[in-house]
Amino acid sequence: MKKTILLLLLPYAVMAQNTSIKNIDFKADSVIKLMTLEEKIGQLNQLSIEFATGNKDGSAALNYYEESVRNGTVGSFLNTPNLDYKIKLQKIAMNESRMKIPIIFALDVIHGYKVIAPIPLAQSCSWDLKAIEKSERVAAEMASADGVHWTFAPMIDVTRDPRWGRVMEGSGEDTWLGSKIAVARVKGFQGDDLSKNNTILACAKHFAAYGAAEAGREYNTVEISERQLREVYLPPFKAAADAGIGSFMNSFNTISGIPSSGNKHLVKDILKTEWNFKGFVVSDWASISEMLNHGVAKDTMDVARLAMVNQTSDMDMEGMAYIKSLKKLVEQGKVPEANINDACKRILKAKFALGLFQDPFKYFDKKRKEASLKNPEYPLASRDLAKKSMVLLKNDNNILPLKKSIKSIALIGAFANSKKDRDYMSFWTFGAEQKNVINLYEGIKNKVNATTQIFVDTLCGKVDCQQNAIEKAVQTALKAEVVVLAVGENGERNGECRSRSEINLPGNQQALIRAVLKTGKPVVLVLFNGRPLTLKWENDNVPAILEAWQPGTEAGNALAEVLFGDYNPSGKLTMSFPYALGQIPVYYNQLPTGRPLVKPNEMWKSTFSDIPNEPLYPFGFGLSYTKFSYSDVALSASEININQTLEVSVTIKNIGKYDGEEIVQMYIRDLVAEVSRPVKELRGFEKIYLKAGESKKVTFKLTAEDLKYWNSDLVYKADLGDFKVFVGGSSVDVTEKVFSLK
Ligand code: BGC
Repeated sequence: MKKTILLLLLPYAVMAQNTSIKNIDFKADSVIKLMTLEEKIGQLNQLSIEFATGNKDGSAALNYYEESVRNGTVGSFLNTPNLDYKIKLQKIAMNESRMKIPIIFALDVIHGYKVIAPIPLAQSCSWDLKAIEKSERVAAEMASADGVHWTFAPMIDVTRDPRWGRVMEGSGEDTWLGSKIAVARVKGFQGDDLSKNNTILACAKHFAAYGAAEAGREYNTVEISERQLREVYLPPFKAAADAGIGSFMNSFNTISGIPSSGNKHLVKDILKTEWNFKGFVVSDWASISEMLNHGVAKDTMDVARLAMVNQTSDMDMEGMAYIKSLKKLVEQGKVPEANINDACKRILKAKFALGLFQDPFKYFDKKRKEASLKNPEYPLASRDLAKKSMVLLKNDNNILPLKKSIKSIALIGAFANSKKDRDYMSFWTFGAEQKNVINLYEGIKNKVNATTQIFVDTLCGKVDCQQNAIEKAVQTALKAEVVVLAVGENGERNGECRSRSEINLPGNQQALIRAVLKTGKPVVLVLFNGRPLTLKWENDNVPAILEAWQPGTEAGNALAEVLFGDYNPSGKLTMSFPYALGQIPVYYNQLPTGRPLVKPNEMWKSTFSDIPNEPLYPFGFGLSYTKFSYSDVALSASEININQTLEVSVTIKNIGKYDGEEIVQMYIRDLVAEVSRPVKELRGFEKIYLKAGESKKVTFKLTAEDLKYWNSDLVYKADLGDFKVFVGGSSVDVTEKVFSLK
């Protein structure tokens, strides 16, 4: 038996050289034929080394991991502490396990690896697909050299509720833009050839509709219609699947009472059948076992049965339900072995595609790792994206940009000079060191004249800010020509399990702003946060506001470029900032109501009695140091048929004093349809660079494909009839035209 296996395994290396899909299919089948049921189930088991749940601590735990590899009862690890330990485990797999199947190592590489990029929500505000793709390329280069084969990214949940801490991981409220960004991220991670040692497997998460968790509360219920699921939440996933993503992750939530990890309709019927997805699906952390808490299964055996019979989770992340139950379930005839073969095959295929059978150690490359840490291009890519991600929300009297010859500047607030508390990054930054972050003070110091005095005052903390700290800050402000107030919520306040019921500036930071404003000094508010905040008071009172998000490793350098005008801000919001908390959810592509509000304060119309309907800062909004005028919006025809293309053109002129970039946006509205359609839907954008005084004509193309939607029979098609098309510099600042589809 042993000899036969060796003979059969010998061709792995030869087989692995050809990574075409057909070949991989054949190879995975050949391996499966040699495996015992226990070994196949082992491939479906993923264990976490750091942050492990259960009783796996200390050396006993390490023995357990090593023993599991030896026995073939684990196929993957996440959160593996260091490269040497990964090498050790892989050696055990290759030398001491019967089947010699390589382990696949996973980690959440969410916005950069050792060099941290801005948080994904920030990145999306750049609307720069190339820069986003490059950022993921850099992350993949660095992570792959350190033995990471697989990242749990991109997170492509559409998010309309800023109370949810995980909005920082996504691309905001728009499905169409989110789909484009999803594809850019997949390309960045996976490149054009997964078998290269600098590309890593990506994972589309969280499937699906996790962004619709009720009240924005983490792990909470989702209750949406099939239409909303297909129209709003699924398209980025479909786009990622079409772009060749290798894996998906179940979401924690239920939809219509069914948890995703056991949701046949969602995973088996839509993802694996309708979309023909051939990769594998990993559960979220113990989400298979959590079906017990959801009350849809009676014990561990039952949850494993549900997920495997429905073929909704191929790999069990840190839940141990499969490893404990599947063998018995097969023996009892409750789970067909064919389902286990299918799940196992999907996982083996990913290992083949990554080239791991050919060379299980190729990602463990200390030289490449060292070189990647020193590569000067990586921080530059991070800086580039950070400055493109920042959004100028207000700039009265052109306070910004500041002059480099400024005599004195006060940097006040908890975020002015920090190297801790994830002030410039999110908590999804395992492995990155905060001491390597260029903070605001350092960035500004690098930028200004040697004679400029910089007064730094960080006494008023994010949460704890006493009156004496505020008084001290006022004294600091009085010494300077201009004040930069660096405030916000840090990376410990957003991300997983960081839902908030108030989304204002935490602690007493508003009191600090109020006191500093009273000095009469020009004040620039720089915000560090991972979600839209409620900023009504700040908008009413502070002359200049720059949304910096959590900008990552190059935070200070990127900020200095923006504040001093070496880079003219171009970012536009991808998630609306509510006027008040009670508006949530507020997003630009709402449906019209039967009683639309036309004039403010009208009775018997769909409105609030105390606040406007509109958000404070809408989707697509962001200022520049220059101004752009839009003119000559024109359509190539007043009607098209379903095979024709409509051209929508517009001329944009830079009418201000600075060169700069503008994100030109195009929206549509289906005026009469079988079901009510959103008041606007993004269908195109172009980011253009114009020198002061320069103008450019931008032409968008629209076809019937762009007009399709899920009609009353849930068929995806376009209605004949009239449509509006809108062009402008934000979702509210547009010029409209009408055309017909005949
Ligand atoms: C999160 C996932 C993440 C996983 C592994 C879960 O709690 O929801 O997004 O990939 O942990 O760290």
